[in-house]
Amino acid sequence: MITLAGLSQKPILAGGGGAAMFQKSWSIYDALSEKNYMHHREIYARVAEWLGRRGGKGYSILDLGCGSVRFLAPCLKKHPPAMYVGVDLSAAALEEAKEQLEGLFHVALRQEEMVEALERSKTRFEVIFSGYALHHLDVAQKEKFLSLCVERLVPGAALLLVDVVREEGESREAYIARYLDDMRRDWTEVPRHELEEACAHVQAYDFPETESDLGEMGKRAGFAGMKRLARFGPHQLWELPTGKKAG
Ligand SMILES: C[S@@+](CC[C@H](N)C(=O)[O-])C[C@H]1O[C@@H](n2cnc3c(N)ncnc32)[C@H](O)[C@@H]1O
Repeated sequence: MITLAGLSQKPILAGGGGAAMFQKSWSIYDALSEKNYMHHREIYARVAEWLGRRGGKGYSILDLGCGSVRFLAPCLKKHPPAMYVGVDLSAAALEEAKEQLEGLFHVALRQEEMVEALERSKTRFEVIFSGYALHHLDVAQKEKFLSLCVERLVPGAALLLVDVVREEGESREAYIARYLDDMRRDWTEVPRHELEEACAHVQAYDFPETESDLGEMGKRAGFAGMKRLARFGPHQLWELPTGKKAG
């Protein structure tokens, strides 16, 4: 059974600026990820391995900034959870997510801002997953996101995080200039006007941290540590375990 809550084309809420491109034209992101420019294939292969090892029998999973779930859905089908909750601001992405998740049981999709969703949730999960969404938040929102994740995880559970990061000591300006150069040089199979729209999105809405700053934020939030599971340039995957006494 799949339930879709609060779905509407409502305007973007505070903290949801990073959803702008996804609200308007989900298809550009879909095309970019299909070409694997952000290493979705390799990273999600490791996510599937991790879920196989750590998901456990009948685990519950909360997916924050779930998008269309195009890459996570096959992992979930390989290692089915007892409950999946996906949260995103983009109505277009959630409509596609519904199709991607067909066949799984106890699926709920909510059109909500992810920090607000964490604040409102009363459920605790065995796994919280977030893919390429955290960098859209500012520092204070990231801190809040991480603290609320600790509260919403059962003891011994973990946050599995995919995101982009700046090099140590690199400014946001230098990171953006470097990332846009890479996009314009390497993302050659995207039509020019779509590539420029994606570049404008990165320029306006990407606020990645360095890996060490993210690790420190995680510790302050109450995670026991942050272990890197995969790295493809700025595109990375980490596990943040809660330790024995969560939230
Ligand atoms: C780059 S896409 C990633 C989608 C998918 N998780 C993946 O790994 O391919 C980022 C997603 O986060 C959503 N998003 C960005 N900021 C958000 C926020 N504050 N609350 C909820 N969703 C948000 C966007 O709408 C978009 O679907």
